[in-house]
Amino acid sequence: MKHTKIAIIGGGNLGQSILKGLLSKSEYLPKNITITKRNIDELEVFQKLGINVTPDNLVAVTESDIIILALKPYTVLTVLDEILPKLDPKRHELVSLASGVSLEQLNEAVQNKIPIYRAMPNTASKVGEAITCIATNTESINPNVEECFQSIGSTIQIDEELMDAATVLGACGIAYALRFIRSMVQGGIQIGFDSKTASKIVNQTVKGAASMLIEEGNHPEFEIDKVTTPKGCTIVGLNEMEHNGFSSALIKGITKSHEAI
Ligand SMILES: NC(=O)c1ccc[n+]([C@@H]2O[C@H](COP(=O)([O-])OP(=O)(O)OC[C@H]3O[C@@H](n4cnc5c(N)ncnc54)[C@H](OP(=O)(O)O)[C@@H]3O)[C@@H](O)[C@H]2O)c1
Repeated sequence: MKHTKIAIIGGGNLGQSILKGLLSKSEYLPKNITITKRNIDELEVFQKLGINVTPDNLVAVTESDIIILALKPYTVLTVLDEILPKLDPKRHELVSLASGVSLEQLNEAVQNKIPIYRAMPNTASKVGEAITCIATNTESINPNVEECFQSIGSTIQIDEELMDAATVLGACGIAYALRFIRSMVQGGIQIGFDSKTASKIVNQTVKGAASMLIEEGNHPEFEIDKVTTPKGCTIVGLNEMEHNGFSSALIKGITKSHEAI
């Protein structure tokens, strides 16, 4: 059981996903987690679980060690200005999840009082399967900060200059993967399955493919070679997808997302 106290400032989509992840692993006591937003009605369900729910960011900061800012980018600097008087160099570590707000801007906003991190998780945090890319200009990542994000999935340290790329690949990537899954399900329905059965087959197939790569560390093409019999139905289908721009569409979409940040 971990005794680190965590404040999630901005209990929206991502803030709630992280909270669910922290709770599902049961490593953090609900009483050690505080979540805020201005309108707290939709957080009532968490209050019932023993989480501290408040619209008061200063209370959340005062009661916590790690402060996670899960706010829209345009709100971050205003909230930092609000909580600045309560930031304690001996206690606090601050993690911003907002894309586009640099470490330099964050450090300036907190007057270099406390260690600052930028982190980019994704909404799979709610099932403990996020990948969180972390950038910092402190010497190393504080173990409590790393543990916090490891409890909702995996972590990887990156250079800050790759933070936009991490947003696209990791956070937007959830949407790309879901659209891929939806397309496979539609194909499955066309060849005879009902939607529920097709979803069950596709979800587990995609999970299995990712798990093989994660556990064995091989390149995807190594596994593809194993299932493409010469002249067989797999290679015929794959090549047809490529003739229609499958890989190209994905790569173009990823680069367009990156340009749009
Ligand atoms: N969604 C993703 O997959 C994802 C992934 C990685 C990073 N991010 C980043 O995470 C951040 C949050 O994204 P999101 O999708 O979770 O946005 P969101 O759903 O809009 O959540 C932001 C929350 O902040 C609250 N808020 C606004 N002003 C506040 C204040 N002064 N004090 C406390 N809470 C305040 C809002 O609730 P009230 O209006 O009730 O206050 C809202 O619920 C963004 O910067 C985004 O770039 C998102």
